[in-house]
Amino acid sequence: MTDIPHGLVLGKVMNRVEWNNQLFSLHVQAPVSPYLAGQFTKLAVFNGDELIRRAYSMVNHPEHKAGHQNLEFLIIKDADGQLSPKLHKLGIGDEVYVGKDPSGFMTLDEIPATAKDLWLLSTGTAIGPFLAMLETQGLEDRFDHLILVHAVRTENDLTYSQRISQLTSRLKGKLQYVPIISREHVSGSLRGRIPTLLLRSELERATQLPISKRHSFFYLCGNPAMVRDTSDALKELGLTKHLRKKSGQFSSENYW
Ligand SMILES: Cc1cc2nc3c(=O)[nH]c(=O)nc-3n(C[C@H](O)[C@H](O)[C@H](O)COP(=O)(O)OP(=O)(O)OC[C@H]3O[C@@H](n4cnc5c(N)ncnc54)[C@H](O)[C@@H]3O)c2cc1C
Ligand SMILES: NC(=O)c1ccc[n+]([C@@H]2O[C@H](COP(=O)([O-])OP(=O)(O)OC[C@H]3O[C@@H](n4cnc5c(N)ncnc54)[C@H](OP(=O)(O)O)[C@@H]3O)[C@@H](O)[C@H]2O)c1
Repeated sequence: MTDIPHGLVLGKVMNRVEWNNQLFSLHVQAPVSPYLAGQFTKLAVFNGDELIRRAYSMVNHPEHKAGHQNLEFLIIKDADGQLSPKLHKLGIGDEVYVGKDPSGFMTLDEIPATAKDLWLLSTGTAIGPFLAMLETQGLEDRFDHLILVHAVRTENDLTYSQRISQLTSRLKGKLQYVPIISREHVSGSLRGRIPTLLLRSELERATQLPISKRHSFFYLCGNPAMVRDTSDALKELGLTKHLRKKSGQFSSENYW
């Protein structure tokens, strides 16, 4: 057997869920260190002698009932990519290397205490870390409003509807789910892209929630072009990027 590369542990695929031809979830059991909701770790496999590793966010809260060493990942296969097609081929019982120490700063404890309305803006697979955050106990006591925005190309790319419904009931009316579909008209969802919908106040209209410098905080996650354009839109609306040394109203994580 090959030695386990530095910083990784050996994990085992326990389950997988197919959302569509390219979008899937992997459940992996691995002896990783504790993590915070919103963080990511690495998944890695060998391609001959070369180890290919990439970052993936955990979809499940570390304190979920199976414990923090049972990790769930939402992954899209990019047919031209190096690692994701290999992950797509993994079946139950297969082994995969996992980063021992999860990391990342897109977590609840980075949000300023003054924030009362938390907007979670995602594209594609980046809904994952937000689902983990929304599972946090007591979140409904800390925030007045929680808005989960999921922007995808087609209706077929929407995921985790059942978990979102459960969260909506658990969070006592504080969670609003706003699907955005860019390439199809689908009733019950907004059409377009996040930055345009923000600038046209369509997200405020859909949620009946005004964006405020004082009470709103935005996390942006996923496609780097969305993160860039949404950051510009939020700046146009008078908000500023949040820094540890200078408090602001938005922060982000790029997936590539
Ligand atoms: C902090 C962090 C967390 C991440 N979490 C996830 C996750 O939970 N799930 C996930 O699927 N990916 C996630 N990614 C992206 C992941 O690390 C890989 O980049 C991705 O799986 C592609 O790897 P690859 O080797 O197949 O292709 P590569 O050759 O590395 O990339 C091919 C191209 O695929 C596109 N791409 C990469 N990631 C995505 C994506 N998620 N959605 C749509 N297009 C993409 C980009 O155009 C990229 O140039 C995350 C990245 C970072 C930095
Ligand atoms: N999902 C599919 O049906 C499909 C099909 C073929 C290949 N793929 C592969 O999967 C990857 C794409 O996955 P994905 O669909 O999950 O992610 P994606 O391309 O990031 O698209 C997700 C959402 O982000 C939006 N978006 C893109 N750029 C934006 C910007 N600048 N500002 C605001 N929003 C923006 C898209 O809108 P727009 O639709 O307007 O771009 C879409 O609604 C690609 O790498 C591709 O190889 C996916």
